[in-house]
Amino acid sequence: MYLLNPVLSTENMNSTNRKNPFFSRIIERFSLNKKGSTKKTFHLSLTSAGSAIQYQPGDCVGVLPSNDPAEVNEILQALQHKGSEFVVDPENNAPISLSAYLTRASNLQKTHPSLLKMAQEHSSTQIVPDPEAPMRPVELFAKMSRIAIPLSDIPRLFLPQLPRFYSIASAQVQYPEEIHLTVALASFESRGRKRYGVASRFLCLDAIVNETPIPIYLQPSRSFILPADSNASIILVGCGTGIAPLRAFLQHRVSTHAKGRNWLFFGERHRSSDYYYEDFFEALRQQKTLRLDLAFSRDSAEKIYVQHRMWEQRRDLWAWLQEGAYLYVCGDAQNMAIDVDSTLIRIAIDQGSMTDDEARRYLKKLRADKRYLLDVY
Ligand SMILES: Cc1cc2nc3c(=O)[nH]c(=O)nc-3n(C[C@H](O)[C@H](O)[C@H](O)COP(=O)(O)OP(=O)(O)OC[C@H]3O[C@@H](n4cnc5c(N)ncnc54)[C@H](O)[C@@H]3O)c2cc1C
Ligand SMILES: NC(=O)c1ccc[n+]([C@@H]2O[C@H](COP(=O)([O-])OP(=O)(O)OC[C@H]3O[C@@H](n4cnc5c(N)ncnc54)[C@H](OP(=O)(O)O)[C@@H]3O)[C@@H](O)[C@H]2O)c1
Repeated sequence: MYLLNPVLSTENMNSTNRKNPFFSRIIERFSLNKKGSTKKTFHLSLTSAGSAIQYQPGDCVGVLPSNDPAEVNEILQALQHKGSEFVVDPENNAPISLSAYLTRASNLQKTHPSLLKMAQEHSSTQIVPDPEAPMRPVELFAKMSRIAIPLSDIPRLFLPQLPRFYSIASAQVQYPEEIHLTVALASFESRGRKRYGVASRFLCLDAIVNETPIPIYLQPSRSFILPADSNASIILVGCGTGIAPLRAFLQHRVSTHAKGRNWLFFGERHRSSDYYYEDFFEALRQQKTLRLDLAFSRDSAEKIYVQHRMWEQRRDLWAWLQEGAYLYVCGDAQNMAIDVDSTLIRIAIDQGSMTDDEARRYLKKLRADKRYLLDVY
């Protein structure tokens, strides 16, 4: 695990990585959802002042989150320790307090097989693993009768904490010392209790603005990048938090006076409450810097998604592609990106008079030429 040392070393300033993060702070955080929304998505501005982080539109940051303090306390109680005792962090063989280990270095979302085995052996009720509803470490500790686990064995019961990635939502040309993120607070129910995603909870709820150190490192994107030729047109398709890198692209193009045309398809639930960065996009639309198509899925009886807008606009969309436009898709991988891809095939068949095979080959070539780029998760 990284060392929690907010004093910047030269190494820390010159490059960041998982082992050597930059300790940022949140300088601004606000909800992007307005009253009546059914979602919880936040805009965060992190400071990069004092770091040498140089990012490009399309890059991500890796965030090393802290776990839910309540879960850490529950596990400490189950272990019958105060937290000030020392254990050895298996990642770097360095001593660390048990409390810091459970907060920052251990994975409290996924369960290590050894912990599951121990819980099965020391529980009065039968524990049958359910892949659909995996048990969190804290839930397993709650099921165990109190047993004395030697301190040296504790780290063997946990998987290592994992970084989470977030697309950068700002352009450094416009915000030289800031990194903006668009983060959806993940929430779900597990065994009758409301739980939150580890990193999104840390960023959106637990971290104190201007106070809590946020360990981050730059994760550059090799492929999800703006065209080298600033005269090239770009078509951006993003749903929900998928808007993040697309905002960065547009900020960069505006700040650098790029001549190429910009077209955005954005989708969310309701226009009145979930139109993220509305002022920015509407201002660009008014200045005729941006062509904008919006798809609010829950404002009408029938779902309207970005791919429905793309289909409606298929003639122009096809013309832009024929003229060399670059196409970017960002957001949900499991549904949206697949449906957008199918719609592109339909558009190629309809507008390019292609067979299904030809349309698929056309899109494959567009990808190979790095003109059809995805950042989906
Ligand atoms: C390249 C890339 C870019 C990304 N960009 C963004 C971005 O710009 N904005 C953004 O918000 N996200 C982005 N993500 C997603 C982000 O990295 C995280 O995956 C996301 O925030 C969830 O992380 P978490 O730690 O909050 O949730 P985790 O704790 O990792 O949990 C994730 C999900 O697992 C499920 N889950 C976990 N435990 C249980 C359980 N016991 N029972 C049932 N379900 C459970 C829940 O559905 C939960 O929502 C990106 C991902 C990638 C790979
Ligand atoms: N694994 C999954 O099934 C799944 C699904 C959604 C999101 N996610 C993940 O949840 C996280 C947060 O998501 P988010 O809040 O940023 O946005 P999101 O949940 O992806 O939602 C944004 C918009 O996309 C719409 N949408 C749903 N299905 C779609 C489809 N097939 N094609 C096009 N649009 C579609 C939603 O409509 P409706 O909600 O009204 O249908 C909503 O209007 C992300 O990490 C994302 O990957 C996963």
